[in-house]
Amino acid sequence: MKKKVIKAVFPAAGLGTRFLPATKASPKEMLPIVDKPMIQYAVEEAQRCGIKEFIMVTGKSKRAIEDHFDSAWELEENLKKKGKEEMLKEVQRLSQLQFAYIRQGNPLGLGHAILRAEPFVKDEPFAVLLSDDIIDPDDDLLARMIKIYERYNTTVLALQRVPRNEIHRYGIIAGREVGNNIYKITDMVEKPSPSSAPSDIAIIGRYILTPDIFSYIQKTPPGKGGEIQLTDALKALLKRRAVYGYLFDGRRYDAGDKLGYLKATVELALKSPAVSKGFREYLKSVASRIQKES
Ligand code: G1P
Repeated sequence: MKKKVIKAVFPAAGLGTRFLPATKASPKEMLPIVDKPMIQYAVEEAQRCGIKEFIMVTGKSKRAIEDHFDSAWELEENLKKKGKEEMLKEVQRLSQLQFAYIRQGNPLGLGHAILRAEPFVKDEPFAVLLSDDIIDPDDDLLARMIKIYERYNTTVLALQRVPRNEIHRYGIIAGREVGNNIYKITDMVEKPSPSSAPSDIAIIGRYILTPDIFSYIQKTPPGKGGEIQLTDALKALLKRRAVYGYLFDGRRYDAGDKLGYLKATVELALKSPAVSKGFREYLKSVASRIQKES
């Protein structure tokens, strides 16, 4: 019988060097976007798709992530006393989810981080969410990927076309479209130069993987940047088993990058009931000022 996707792995051990000095002592994943840390958006996205077990692969200086998703007795008592029921519910909601934490040890790459999750994933299919890729919360990318997984019973990657000058930042695929935005992948390369890239279709930070990926990662030697790359393990898997991709045409923000982070903040603030009205007015005034200046 086919197993349902109820586990998700969140690699969160990276050093966040693109965000220094903010990330010197605090995890990148805890940088707030409006009123939630970045990683909470990914956790809530997974939760909306029926994920029940949240497996975090963390590292040094990442304790704040564990605290964030834990219950906070003193804070909860304080909110209770003050009658702040809404806020109390919001704070308690997160700690009711089931989390597991593993340390990556040496940050040897995305493939290595995922391999660390094997004792928790065991022999089940699982989702991987890279929390600095923020997907518009109104989009159902992960749910669609799970449906494709259920149909083909194999690996599914999220894909998006990227401009030529960004190709070197992604895993890039070759493939042919076999259905509406569904690709059968025939090759992939981690962070190629634009001239050697097989297409302009990038792998973005959502994956549905099957447990056989672990044995492929184990056999994967260090690749681009001296790291054990998930893309290389998937490329080896591809020779034995079909791998599909879903071409996403919705909104995604690379919040691991300063400009992407600011875009995510603006877009999510515009959707936030708490600030959207005032923020929209403010943005209009900024836009008209900029127009006058230019
Ligand atoms: C990782 C993957 C890469 C993928 C990207 C998506 O790279 O290695 O294949 O395209 O995530 O965000 P990273 O951004 O960790 O360098």
